[in-house]
Formats: sequence, C-alpha cells, structure tokens
Amino acid sequence: MTSTLNTDQLLVDDATWWRQAAVYQIYPRSFADANGDGIGDLRGIISRVPYLKRLGIDAVWLSPFYPSALADGGYDVADYRDVDPRIGTLDEFDEMVAALHAAGIRVIADIVPNHSSDDHVWFQEALAAGPGSPERARYIFRDGLGADGSRPPADWTSMFGEPAWTRVPDGQWYLHLFAREQPDFNWDNEDVREDFRKTLRFWSDRGVDGFRIDVAHGLTKELGESLPSQAEIDAITEPGAHPLWDRDEVHEIYADWRKVFNEYTPPRIAVAEAWVTTHRRPRYASAEGLGQAFNFDLLEADFDAEQFRTIITDNLALSAASGSSTTWVFSNHDVVRHATRYALPPRNGSTTVKQGQEWLLSGGTAPVADVELGLRRARAATLLMLGLPGSAYLYQGEELGLPEVADIPAAERQDPAFFRNPGVDMGRDGCRVPLPWTREGSSFGFGPAGAHLPQPAGFGELSVEAQDGVPGSTLELYRAALALRHELQAAETLEWVPSPADVVRFARPSGWQVVTNFGTDPVALPDGEVLLTSGPLAGTQLPASTTAWIRTA
Ligand code: GLC
Ligand code: CA
Repeated sequence: MTSTLNTDQLLVDDATWWRQAAVYQIYPRSFADANGDGIGDLRGIISRVPYLKRLGIDAVWLSPFYPSALADGGYDVADYRDVDPRIGTLDEFDEMVAALHAAGIRVIADIVPNHSSDDHVWFQEALAAGPGSPERARYIFRDGLGADGSRPPADWTSMFGEPAWTRVPDGQWYLHLFAREQPDFNWDNEDVREDFRKTLRFWSDRGVDGFRIDVAHGLTKELGESLPSQAEIDAITEPGAHPLWDRDEVHEIYADWRKVFNEYTPPRIAVAEAWVTTHRRPRYASAEGLGQAFNFDLLEADFDAEQFRTIITDNLALSAASGSSTTWVFSNHDVVRHATRYALPPRNGSTTVKQGQEWLLSGGTAPVADVELGLRRARAATLLMLGLPGSAYLYQGEELGLPEVADIPAAERQDPAFFRNPGVDMGRDGCRVPLPWTREGSSFGFGPAGAHLPQPAGFGELSVEAQDGVPGSTLELYRAALALRHELQAAETLEWVPSPADVVRFARPSGWQVVTNFGTDPVALPDGEVLLTSGPLAGTQLPASTTAWIRTA
C-alpha cells in the first residue's frame, strides 16, 4: 500500500514512486500570477503549494518555464538551463522545489530535445557562421533545389501547417518539424548530445525528480542525399521506416540518458511524449530507456464502454511487456479539455494521429457542446481512470471541471497552430486559459491584475473558492478520489467483472471495485459499500454516465 510521503528523506528512499503516481500538469503561464503582470509565475506556484497538497497529487509536471520568445507557448526554448525572467529566477525555482518536496510532492520538468528556439545562442551562432561550419552542423541545414537553390530541399509540411524548411539570408535552408522559430537539432552531432546530458544533470542536481520528454519520437532522422517527397513519406506504413519519426536509433539516446538518470538516488524518472502506434510504445517505456511513456489511447477514445475496455486490456498487457507501469491521461495543454470533448459527437474510434491535430480542430464553437453532459461524463471517466493500475496524469483545471474556452477572439489568440493554419486549426489556447481561483476579481484570483488569455464570465462559478468544501463539486470529487486512491492503490493488477455491454466493471486487490455506466439508462448498483461516486445515485441504481467505487467483502 502506498503511504503519503511527507519528508524529503522519504522522497529520496522510494525508487518506485512513479509507478502509480497521480501527476498534475502545471502550465506555468496560466496557473497563478503573483506579481500581477498577467503571466503565471513560480511565486504563484509557491503560493499554491497548500492547494496542491490538499488536492492529494504525488507530483507536478511543469510545462516549459525556460526563457522563450513564446512562438510555441514555451516549447521554443532559448536557454535550457535558466528560468524565463517573466516567470521567475533560478533561486525561486529552488524555493519552489523545496516547498513542493516539503509537501511530499515531486517535481517533473519538461525537456524539449527535438528543437530549440531560433533565439538559442547555438542557432544564432549557426546563422552567423555560415554554410559548412561546425556551428551549422548542430542543426539540419541543406542547400535548396534548382539552379539558384530557391526551392526548399523537400516539400514537407510542418506540424503547424507551414512548410517545414525555411530559407536563411545566405541561401541555405533549415528543417523545423514545428514552427519556423523551432529549428530541429541534428542528433548525430556530439555537441547536441553532450549539451542535453548537461541539462539533465543541471536540473537533477537542483532536485528535479524526473522529466517529461517532449516529442520523444522525433530527434533522430534518416536524411539521405536526396530527400523523399511529402507524398512518398505519407505512404510509408512500415514501423521504423519513417525518415522523421519513431526511428529505432532514437533509443540509443535514451539508453545514454538512462545512465545519467541512474547517477541519482533515487534514479530520475522520465516519461516519453511519443505519438506512436501502440505496439511501438514499450521501447520508449523500457527500463533501459526512458522508463515510462504516455498512453494517449483513452484520450483519443469516445465515451464508450467497448473502447475503454479494449484500451485498458491492451495497455496493461503492453506495460507488463516492458516492465513499466502504464499511464493514463484525458487532458493536457495540447488537446480540447475532456469535459468539452465528451460534450461533442463521438468520433467512433478513429485513431489516426497527426500530433493530436484532429482534437485541435474541434476547438471552435460548432457543434454546440452539451456542457452538462460533457462534465458528467468527464467526472465518470476520471473516477474510472483513478481506479486503474498505473499512473494518472491530470491537467490543471480539470479538477474544477473547466470546459474548453472555444470563443477566444482571433486577436487575443497566441497559439501558432491557429495563426499558421488559418481557418483549419483553432489552436490550443482554449485549454490554456488562466485558472479561476476566486469568484470575483479582475482575473478570478489568477493574479492581482488581468490574465494573458481572456477568461469567460462563467469561470467565477467554477473557481476554487466556489467549489471548496462544497459536497459534490468537481474539486471535492478529485480530492476525495485522490485521497482514497492513496489508501486503496496496491498491486498493479485488475480483474474484469462480468457486466452488461454498456458497463465497465473491474476489481482491484482487497475488494476495491470500479463500475462505470457508459449507457443511457440506469443499471443496478453492485452489492457492496459505496465509497465514492462521480455523481448522485438514484436509489440502488447507478445512473447513466456515472462511476462508483465500491468495496466488496
Ligand atoms: C509537444 C508539446 C506541444 C508542442 C510540441 C512542439 O507536442 O506538447 O505543446 O507544441 O511538442 O514542441
Ligand atoms: Ca507574473
């Protein structure tokens, strides 16, 4: 049984803490603003440590807080070993880690190794040094096609919709799989490899407990003399054969990082953000590599019993194969919040993934979302997830039941996904709106002044203040579930209990059962002591879109 960790000493001792941890993702710019400039900061996080402790999470993962021009919400890093002055200082970072550790909460930092910002000193040096220089060899530069080199080396499209090659003043082109302000590193280059070892040690030495690895399936590329066309690339289906994504060689890098992680006690942990097909995931999660990988399968599923059952079965088998524990996640800073997703028509299990973009597409105002139904389902899904073996990743604001903010005016949007792909992609600002802490106030308590993205009027009623201590509120549901989970979570096993087609029901060790009604009609509640429900019961019936935790004899 997992116990609550209260001191730094306990934090040091437990090397398996990550296996069934509840990890809360903080998007620092939108969490809490202490100095009133409209941007969340480290002082804001420090001020909310009591809130995080009361919530009952085991760790926080911080999205990038590094110096950045914010071409991609901080995922364009100008300096990997510093804090953005708008967010704080390294001293404040140390203070934050100490405060979180004192509260028994571990810290995971976000590492962005596929690309830097074009403001990074190495990219600036690469531009200044010119073609053929060692400085340029840290990135991926090529001459263009045609007599004057004015055509890009290939017709590839970046993840944000623009061409993936951009020309520099001396005529060469560089590769960027994301925004043009995010040049891709050349991972065949030893300077790049050594610099990331240095970065991992830098934060580990400052007490960071682990790392979330951004675009972990990128990094290594197979670029021969003549590059294939986008159409040729798109036709590749054989695993490991794609020149840009999920190359087998990337695991050499993670095996090297594992040695760095194991220099520490307990070893630093890592979780891969790798949008790969399910059976390619275990290599990222292996103990010789990063150790754990995000499983986005439930995030991509509809609110559907059959889809949930299949995904859970497959992923428990997969994680057992790699020796890792599985991860579950419904929301993060890249996707439409699940309270809103479940309010939209089902996608019928379509699982094609292009950096999650089809989720981003639904960030608009049509079709109109059934907000009440969406929240009801989101609460049921979350309570189911928190009953599963493995670790659960939660995204700031989901504990308040926040919906996607779909109607942000174009002039106030920030995400390149919106600007670079006009009319196609609504972008990800709608899930990055600053949190409401109080009912009233210029930014509902986010800070003493405004918020960097507009908050809708309804945010006040969803604020922490409005939900704190209120029975049945989403915040109290999360608190109760996380506390109970700590008590109940034991071996990473699950047994299915026979149930009607629309009902998912499983048993964990020691008589803990989880039952979710995905259907439209109430079903009989199984016998046993009801520990917690995601919504009101109807006598002895479990209503539609509701989960119950039950203790059987
Ligand atoms: C990851 C991040 C996303 C970012 C992209 C490029 O997918 O989660 O926010 O835009 O990588 O770094
Ligand atoms: Ca601030």
